[in-house]
Amino acid sequence: MAKNFVVLGIESSCDETGVALVRVAGQNLPTLLSHALYSQIEMHQAYGGVVPELASRDHIRRVLPLTQEVLRDAGETLQAVDVVAFTRGPGLAGALLVGAGVACALAAALGKPVLGVHHLEGHLLSPFLSADAPQFPFVALLVSGGHTQLMRVDGVGQYQILGETIDDAAGEAFDKSAKMLGLPYPGGAALGHLAESGNPAAFKLPRPLLHSGDLDFSFAGLKTAVMVQTKKCAAGLGCEVQALPQAVLADLAASTQAAIVEVLVKKSLTALQQTGLKRLVVAGGVGANRELRRQLNAECGKRQVRVHYPELHLCTDNGAMIAMAAAMRLQSGIQVANAVYAFDVKPRWPLDAFDLVRM
Ligand code: KG4
Ligand code: ZN
Repeated sequence: MAKNFVVLGIESSCDETGVALVRVAGQNLPTLLSHALYSQIEMHQAYGGVVPELASRDHIRRVLPLTQEVLRDAGETLQAVDVVAFTRGPGLAGALLVGAGVACALAAALGKPVLGVHHLEGHLLSPFLSADAPQFPFVALLVSGGHTQLMRVDGVGQYQILGETIDDAAGEAFDKSAKMLGLPYPGGAALGHLAESGNPAAFKLPRPLLHSGDLDFSFAGLKTAVMVQTKKCAAGLGCEVQALPQAVLADLAASTQAAIVEVLVKKSLTALQQTGLKRLVVAGGVGANRELRRQLNAECGKRQVRVHYPELHLCTDNGAMIAMAAAMRLQSGIQVANAVYAFDVKPRWPLDAFDLVRM
């Protein structure tokens, strides 16, 4: 690979179509030239969750117009693209296939190489797109809709899982609790917003595995506790859950958020202590949560630990993180084969069993 090159990145693993252009100049941090995103959330809201078939069809509609948009915004043409990167997994198989198919077709037409990227590596490296980029090594708290992991990260491709959820992810706990409180899918951000006017100590909800001594998480029990508490409130007031007063809903939201955040903060601090590292990187959609950021900043501040986040709009899925992960992988010396356009996707793909993807 030349020292200077441009990467086109395509993300289509779930309900967001993202495309971005990143420029690499030598060993400097790659820079984002442009990115564009189309969120399908509104379309899925009618069903209370992502409908995979609808997601795939919508990615097909969006991906090429978004590609044209990023090229136009960057003042470039397709010919300027040196590598095409796409999310190879994990994610919804049909949705992934759209990005993979388009990426390979574009690369083949251009005669350029193509590179499959791990979605979680995209999240993990997304803070490198912010003005306050981290340095290796660091502890990473990866909190998305599908994953909750603590990792030791020593460099690009050097990821060691320290602990992870044994059932639901933190984002899933936010989303499922939000649904019970009558908030629209995906609910995490809405629950966070509602929680701001509530009392976090109003209801005693479980903090799963808080004192387990290890770095694993469990959030499946929390949603049951939220459901029981919500029904109890409704029964106490003699009304349906849907008719609960706003103040009660806010207290339920604040108590739920407090339970999730306390566990995430405590385990992150334990991971920092166990590894002796002084840097924490938070990535994934739940990393946008204000209360999580407030508590992590406060606790890490007391311990001289630097905390890095992706920019708010790059916490949830986007193409910039995929282009960035590909750019950093290529900078770290991995080779990509030319003219090999047979592709596959990996709907389930553990990050620590991560083989370098060469296609
Ligand atoms: O990383 P992401 O976009 O998708 C996956 O790879 O899963 O994360 C989406 C998750 C959803 O569960 C969403 O509700 C949650 O991130 N989320 C939040 C907030 N913004 C997004 N959860 C809590 N507070 C937020 N502000
Ligand atoms: Zn994601």
